[in-house]
Amino acid sequence: MLIDSHAHIYDEQYADGGKSIIADMEKDGLSAIVCVGCDLESSLTCVELARNNKNIYASVGVHPYYPETVTNELIDKFRALSEEDKVVAIGEFGLDYHHEVYDRDAQIRAMEMQYDLARELKLPMIFHVREATGDFTEFLRSREFPESGVMHCYSGSVETADICLKKNLYISFGGKLTYSNSRNLSEVAKHVPLDRLIVETDAPYLSPSHCIGQINYPKNVAYVRDKIAELRGMEKEEIDRITVDNTKRLFFKIV
Ligand code: NI
Repeated sequence: MLIDSHAHIYDEQYADGGKSIIADMEKDGLSAIVCVGCDLESSLTCVELARNNKNIYASVGVHPYYPETVTNELIDKFRALSEEDKVVAIGEFGLDYHHEVYDRDAQIRAMEMQYDLARELKLPMIFHVREATGDFTEFLRSREFPESGVMHCYSGSVETADICLKKNLYISFGGKLTYSNSRNLSEVAKHVPLDRLIVETDAPYLSPSHCIGQINYPKNVAYVRDKIAELRGMEKEEIDRITVDNTKRLFFKIV
């Protein structure tokens, strides 16, 4: 059994609000899914899904696409939601400079506010970082992560992974690892210590290579696991056990 450590099963691309994904979890070999929020509305939906479904856990946070929405009032709402047993992390938040127009200062401020909340609540953090390595490593340099966190859908270099690992963070791999042009990422997947490695789908986004361009599903986390087992010359079952243990250590509120 695997855990999909990062999925958006509430996404409108799933016509039934994720119901069939949840119903099929056992058949699909999934023991849990961490349903990740991107804004207030989706965070509330994640919490609702976690309340109503045994093996669904939630995170609350604001994606770097919407930094201007991170106000003190919003932080207060996340603080209250985080008291629930099944809210296991703050995120996803971070930096994303991919699109032509973005507000760098606003993104950094929104990241700092969510970092402060996670530290106050003693919860792990889920980081989304794209094309912003310089500013992100600068942010890491002056901060500590006693409750840890995860670099979601990691796509950086071995060197940047080392900086994150030194800061007590986990590295999570998604469908990108299965692409034929992912040589650099394969190097990272071989390099990360086994006790810091986790897997995810980011469903409905980032489908693995066998179904590229289609809607992604949490069950496809198995393809990421297969690729890691192949790269490291290990049994699939061993990678299952290791990544489940790691995910539970990181998101320590998962029971
Ligand atoms: Ni995501």
